[in-house]
Amino acid sequence: MKGLILSGGAGTRLRPITHTQAKQLVPVANKPILFYGLEAMQQAGIRDVGLVVGATHREIEEAVGNGRRFGLKVTYIEQEAPLGLAHAVKISQSFLKKSPFVMYLGDNIIKDGINSLVEEFRVRKPNAMILLAHVKEPQRFGVAELKEEKVVRLTEKPKKPKSDLALVGVYMFDHNIFKAVKAIRPSWRNELEITDAIQYLIDKKYEVHSHIINGWWKDTGRLEDILEANRIILDSLESKIYGKIDSKSRLIGKIRIEKGAEVIKSTIRGPAVIGRKTRIINSYIGPYSSISYNVTVNNSEIEHSIILEHSTVDNLSHRLEDSLIGKNVYIGTSPLKPKAYRLMVGDNSQVGVI
Ligand code: TTP
Repeated sequence: MKGLILSGGAGTRLRPITHTQAKQLVPVANKPILFYGLEAMQQAGIRDVGLVVGATHREIEEAVGNGRRFGLKVTYIEQEAPLGLAHAVKISQSFLKKSPFVMYLGDNIIKDGINSLVEEFRVRKPNAMILLAHVKEPQRFGVAELKEEKVVRLTEKPKKPKSDLALVGVYMFDHNIFKAVKAIRPSWRNELEITDAIQYLIDKKYEVHSHIINGWWKDTGRLEDILEANRIILDSLESKIYGKIDSKSRLIGKIRIEKGAEVIKSTIRGPAVIGRKTRIINSYIGPYSSISYNVTVNNSEIEHSIILEHSTVDNLSHRLEDSLIGKNVYIGTSPLKPKAYRLMVGDNSQVGVI
């Protein structure tokens, strides 16, 4: 059994972060989202993984390498443009050959992993197996219509969903999927839709199983999804303190502080992670915060936020909350008079002021 992780795409819903980096490399609890998928593959006993990449190929390859440190052998498959999930399958045929495979969307996190699902697919050997979950806004997803547990219709982002069962970003296929991805035509949004490919299999009477999962999973396509994923993952954090904490600081709850980090005259209330060489000075870091490496937080309060590497949060008079701050960002009080907001904000940013 092989693995296929989709790590191309446009990431439009996460701009401006995705103007400068792959969304699959945004960290959740200080670990890139993509690594959760790679680890899930490894734990399910899969060794040979194809990684579909697009415009961000170079940085993904820099982060993942040949996959050895995940216990995997990773092969890169270039997609010339994000032409759809079924297009990604189509261009991967020479890698997948006749092998059955698990396809995993590289921006998804499935908390309980995929072991039992892969096992079920191995034992029952259907032509395809899809995972479904009850969701609140089915119109944002591929939606399945079931009749007595059998999938009868799949619709991509329907305006009037027929059920609340969304396709979760993990699919299992045998080689018959290649007939489907070759037969279908691009949709109104000019993508080869995986829902159309699976519908083709259903219509041609191939065996398509579905499995409703109850555990937590997240498609991290939007800011609020990333913050939720961060909350869920931090909830099962193990406390580990490698950095230095001075005698005037207080740590409360589950906290991980990496090597070379320093906490000075500050309070940290977990769950929270503080990355390597990050300095927290005279500040408060509240629950559900992931502060990456080489960050400085001085005289400020942060809660329920993700701060990426090499950024500085300095002297804020109000608490920073519900935020995702990119790399090399400076947020601070302007020393200049007159008192005013002074901003350099990229395209598609959102700034909330008091
Ligand atoms: P999506 O989140 O559906 O698409 P996207 O990344 O283009 O995002 P947006 O809608 O915000 O513009 O993609 C799911 C995953 O599949 C994600 O990891 C990107 C990947 N993908 C590909 O590798 N190739 C593709 O052609 C598409 C559409 C997505």
